[in-house]
Amino acid sequence: MAKTIGIVTSGGDAPGMNAAIRAVTRVSHAKGFQVIGFERGWDGLLTNSFRRLTPRSVGGIIQLGGTILHTLRCPGFEEKGAIEKGAETLSTHGVDSLVVIGGDGSFRGALELSRKSSALMIGIPATIDNDVYGTDETIGFDTAVNTAVGTIDKIRDTAISHERIFLVEVMGRKRGFLALEVGICVGAEVILIPEKPMSLADIVRLMEESAKKGKRAGIIVAAEGCGNTSKLALEMQQQTESEVRLSILGYAQRGGGPTARSRLLASLFAEKAVDLICQGKGSMAVGLQKGEITGYDLDKAAKDKKPIDLRLLQVADMLAT
Ligand code: F6P
Repeated sequence: MAKTIGIVTSGGDAPGMNAAIRAVTRVSHAKGFQVIGFERGWDGLLTNSFRRLTPRSVGGIIQLGGTILHTLRCPGFEEKGAIEKGAETLSTHGVDSLVVIGGDGSFRGALELSRKSSALMIGIPATIDNDVYGTDETIGFDTAVNTAVGTIDKIRDTAISHERIFLVEVMGRKRGFLALEVGICVGAEVILIPEKPMSLADIVRLMEESAKKGKRAGIIVAAEGCGNTSKLALEMQQQTESEVRLSILGYAQRGGGPTARSRLLASLFAEKAVDLICQGKGSMAVGLQKGEITGYDLDKAAKDKKPIDLRLLQVADMLAT
């Protein structure tokens, strides 16, 4: 009987997940595997919700945001007996390998499952936060950056017309990767990230310095992990001569058709994932490391903290002169 590869998309969705599902399915079939997609993240293994995936059933999805398999922030396998149930479902379907498309939280679930299942676990990093250790870039990050940049460029038009300061909150959970890249790309006057906390006094000082340079409008990009941006916007307005408005970009950053780059990463990560399976290598994640797509320890992808290049904040400061 042909070996079977399972796919699950888990955690926050990311543009490019469908491209990854498509590529895992088609490369697997090209190598003689059967493919099963489990619905709604880990929940699909607990409720045995699945669909068989063929090269035809994944046609016309490479350009779609979201995930055709749906996803859940399932608490994973915390419930008593959940790991055993998940392992049993895999065994029932003869799943020899499971490709988990998601972020670090999803990879922790895969590690838990690997304690009770003999199936090879392979993680494909897909999250707009780009906060997975071991890969320079995650699927969906480029799309979210472009979505945010396009929206903030529009906000800058009205900021200039009204000579206002806009505090723009972007996603990223507890990390600043999205804010840092978006901030540089929109020419933000200030970028606020959790990894380099800034006091209100510091922010006000930077705003006043910007005004002294003759800048009467400005964009400040803040990662959501920096805290309460509504309160900050009010305090900024109270402590400066500027009119300050808040714009929270929210869930638009999670949707939209994936960019070419997100599709390319998804397709090449997927091919590498199936290649690792063909080599019999499990408990691995796939990542982009200095231009190379490679496999690395899933445990590190799940648990290690990805470093951020704070030097880019200094570059951003110079670019905002
Ligand atoms: O992990 C992706 C992400 O969009 C984060 O940037 C954000 O903080 C979180 O998901 C929101 O979670 P939820 O979709 O469960 O509201």
